[in-house]
Amino acid sequence: MGLYSKYILPKVVHFTCSMKPNMYQRRKVVPLAEGLVLEIGIGSGLNIPYYDVGRVEKVLGLDPSREMTRIAESSASTVPFDVEFIELPGEEIPLESQSVDTVLMTYTLCSIPDTGRALQQMARVLKPGGKLIFCEHGAAPDPKVLRWQNRLNPIWSRVGGGCQLNREIPELIEIGGFRIVDMESMYIPGWRPASFNYWGVAVPA
Ligand SMILES: C[S@@+](CC[C@H](N)C(=O)[O-])C[C@H]1O[C@@H](n2cnc3c(N)ncnc32)[C@H](O)[C@@H]1O
Repeated sequence: MGLYSKYILPKVVHFTCSMKPNMYQRRKVVPLAEGLVLEIGIGSGLNIPYYDVGRVEKVLGLDPSREMTRIAESSASTVPFDVEFIELPGEEIPLESQSVDTVLMTYTLCSIPDTGRALQQMARVLKPGGKLIFCEHGAAPDPKVLRWQNRLNPIWSRVGGGCQLNREIPELIEIGGFRIVDMESMYIPGWRPASFNYWGVAVPA
């Protein structure tokens, strides 16, 4: 791992993911999580303060980046439920099948190399009746913005730790084995190529 990835990227990602419009989005989805929660790509722990303490038993925070979860540890120490970190990618969830109530994923599907495999793993570990709650940025509906997303993507993903600007989020979720039961989308305030958000709830198909 280079010096940029180790020392600078985690701070850049934490800063960009802490923008007010993104934090506002978290408020819409994170309180829907309940029971035993698996958070995919927990990163610097920005969702932790938004969990509903009356609904959540424990959060398993999976992320391959120790540099990111190190930042999350301080938020984890302020909440009354356990947060356990798992240092692995979403493609390799080390949990038993049908063992969690909720999978939460925010601003992470853009960075997962094998989205199909990771989503299949998420579907596998959900209990019957369990839900995937998501909020992601992705491909914009306007051809002009989408053209910019496609143009900028190669350089953006290099400086952004693999983040892809132009992923078709709903299609990827469905190809990965889920049925979307509720979804909204819009541009949140900010730089348009990275601000078209999709958020909602999906269940294993
Ligand atoms: C843009 S950050 C978002 C962090 C956090 N979910 C949030 O909402 O602030 C993307 C996160 O995905 C993580 N990530 C990268 N590859 C991953 C993978 N294969 N599986 C799970 N998480 C991954 C990164 O380490 C990073 O923490």
